[in-house]
Amino acid sequence: GGTGLLAGIRVLITAGPTREPIDPVRYISNRSSGKMGYAVAAAALAEGAEVVLVSGPTALPPPQVHEFVTVESAAEMYAAVMARAESCGIYIGTAAVADYTPVAAAPQKIKKTLAETQIALTRTPDILGTVAGLARRPFTVGFAAETHDLENYARQKLAGKALDMVAANQVGQGLGFDAEDNALFVCWPGGDTRLPFAPKRRLAEQLVRLIAERYRATGS
Ligand code: C5P
Repeated sequence: GGTGLLAGIRVLITAGPTREPIDPVRYISNRSSGKMGYAVAAAALAEGAEVVLVSGPTALPPPQVHEFVTVESAAEMYAAVMARAESCGIYIGTAAVADYTPVAAAPQKIKKTLAETQIALTRTPDILGTVAGLARRPFTVGFAAETHDLENYARQKLAGKALDMVAANQVGQGLGFDAEDNALFVCWPGGDTRLPFAPKRRLAEQLVRLIAERYRATGS
């Protein structure tokens, strides 16, 4: 392996939104651009990591990582992550995974015959929680996007899912999703820090440095 804070370490990163199929031509998704996850992947690569990027659909050019896996739905992302998580030293879940998915995708295009209709939804598998619960788990980093009470939710997420680190960002009012700049509140068991407003590329570099530091400190 080469040099850098993450030389020789396999880092699994998820990025982008997921698409939950309603019928063959429709889906439920969100405003995630994938920019933060791709920036984290580039920063980890620059620190010498062996990067595996599992990505939902984005408009971004595919980065030069060691393995690039494209998925659509939360179920596909879950399968791609679980097939690889135990062989990785660090997991960084930046993807905006859908929380709900249609109970079943209609086999044919749904016609507009009804004045009103409903789509029954069911919870998606919790990818981050499942990774954190693995017997041979990687150092596990979760993301949180909140419109209010950011620090409290971040600490709750850290404790609730027994994560090693949570990076939280404010969304809404033009912040977060699909924006060029961002700010992060980062916490871990026993500490926290704020990474002030900056381009996502800069923030990703700082976050990756923090992750490398904590990864070594915990002796993972
Ligand atoms: O609780 P919340 O959905 O805000 O948590 C966001 C974090 O959880 C992100 O790291 C996201 O990638 C992850 N997540 C997941 N599987 C889900 C939902 C969210 O891994 N089904």
